[in-house]
Amino acid sequence: MASLTVRQLDETLKQQLRLRAARSGRSVEDEVRTILKAAAEESEAPAPVAKAAPGPAPATKVANKRVLLIIGGGIAAYKSLDLIRRLKERGFAVRCILTAAATQFITPLAAGALTGERVFTDLFDPASEFDVGHIRLARDTDLVVVAPATADLMAKMANGHANDLATAVLLATTAKVLLAPAMNPQMWANQATQRNLAQLKADGVTMTGPNAGEMAESGERGTGRMAEPMEIAGAVDRLFAAQGERPLAGQRVLVTSGPTHEPIDPVRYIANRSSGKQGHAIATAAAQAGADVTLISGPVTLPDPPGVKLIKVESARDMLRATEQALPVDVAIFAAAVADWRVANAGEQKIKKKAGESIPDLLLVENPDILSAIAHHIDQRPALVIGFAAETENVEANAKAKLARKGCDWILANDVSPQTGIMGGDSNTIKLVTADGIEAWPPQSKDDVARMLIARIAAAMKAPKA
Ligand code: C5P
Repeated sequence: MASLTVRQLDETLKQQLRLRAARSGRSVEDEVRTILKAAAEESEAPAPVAKAAPGPAPATKVANKRVLLIIGGGIAAYKSLDLIRRLKERGFAVRCILTAAATQFITPLAAGALTGERVFTDLFDPASEFDVGHIRLARDTDLVVVAPATADLMAKMANGHANDLATAVLLATTAKVLLAPAMNPQMWANQATQRNLAQLKADGVTMTGPNAGEMAESGERGTGRMAEPMEIAGAVDRLFAAQGERPLAGQRVLVTSGPTHEPIDPVRYIANRSSGKQGHAIATAAAQAGADVTLISGPVTLPDPPGVKLIKVESARDMLRATEQALPVDVAIFAAAVADWRVANAGEQKIKKKAGESIPDLLLVENPDILSAIAHHIDQRPALVIGFAAETENVEANAKAKLARKGCDWILANDVSPQTGIMGGDSNTIKLVTADGIEAWPPQSKDDVARMLIARIAAAMKAPKA
C-alpha cells in the first residue's frame, strides 16, 4: 500500500487541514485520520438521495445567522446580487424578497441561484403563504437588509404601509433593519424623503449610504448612489457586533502594533511614522469579539486598549522575543511596522560629537522577520497568520508576492504613499489578499477596518459562541 504524508500535500490543502484541526482541537494527523475514517464509513453507507442545487456553499458559518435581503426596484438592484455573494462568503444564510419593481431589473432566478434558496415575491402567493408565510419570513431572520431602498419603499415604511410582501414583512419583523437607500439626487434631497428618513431613524432603522457620485442617468451627479456591496456587508458585520455577539470567544489572538525603535546609542534611535492606530484598533475589536488578546506594541502615544494583555517593546528583536513567548495562539495579526534594519555598531554610551573628528558611520544589519518566523514556525504555527503590506507602488503585485514569501495566509495591503494620509491617519483603504484572490475593501475608518477584519477572522475560524 502506497504511503502518503501530510508534508507531501499542497500548501492550500495543508492550510485547510490546519484550520480544521485547530477548530476541532485535534492534531493535523488526528484530523486526517478522522476525515479518512468518516470517508470510509460513508462509502459503506447507502448513496444519499440527491438534493436540489444548493448554490455556492459558504466557506464558514457566522453562527448560522440569517439575513433577509429585500431588493427594491432600482437600477442598483444588480449590485444586490453581488451583496448576496458578500454575505454568503461571510457565512450568513441569505433569503431574498424581490418587490414587483425589482423584478423589472433582476430575476428571482438569479437571486435564487446565488442564495441557494427560494426567492419570495408575492404576498398573495398561496404556495409561499402555505409553506412559509410573510409572518414567518419576518420572524425567521436575525436582520433585514433593504437594498436598494427606493424612495417609495422608504415612504411606505415610514408610514407603516403593508400592501405587498416586502412592506408587510418590514411591518411584521422584530429584527433589526438596515437600509441602503438608492435614488436620484433630487428624490433623495426632497423634503418628503428627508422627512421619511428622519422618521425611519427615529424608529430605530440603521442606514448605510447613500454615496455621492455619478448616477445611472447620464450626466447626473449627486448624493443617491447605493452604498457598495462591501460597505453594506461591513455595516451588517457591525450590526451583529453591536448586538453583543462574541464570535471570537475562546480564541487566542496575538496582534503586533506600532513602530519599532532601533537604538543608535542610549539616547538616539531609528524609527518610522507608524502610529499604531490600526494595530491597536484590531486588538480592541478582537477583545470586543470575545478573544483572549495579547497586544505586542512598539512605542506609541495611544491609550492602552481595554481588555487586552499589553506587552510594550522597543526594538524588532524585543518584539520577536515577546511574540515567540506569547505562542501558542490561534490567530496572529502582524500590524507592526517593524524596522527592516538595526544598527550593528550601536554605542553603549552616547556617541559624542567631537570637533575635528569624522562623522560616525552607522553599520546596518537586517532585523529578524517576525511575521515570516511565526508563519514558518515548526510546531506552534497559528491556524491563521495575517500580515500587512504597506506599499507605495504596485500594491497588489507586491502584496501577492509577500503572501508567498512570508508564508502567511492573508495579507492586508494598503497604499501608504504620503498623499493617501494613511500613515498616522484615521482611515485606511485595504485590499485583502488571500490564496483565493484579492478583495478591495471600501475606504473606511481604521476602527471599521478592524471590525471588518475581525468578522472575517471569526467566519474563517468558525468560532463557537460565548
Ligand atoms: O516586508 P514588509 O516589512 O513589507 O512586511 C510587512 C509585514 O511583515 C507586516 O505584517 C509586518 O508587521 C511584518 N514584519 C515583521 N517583521 C519584520 C518586517 C515586517 O513581522 N522584520
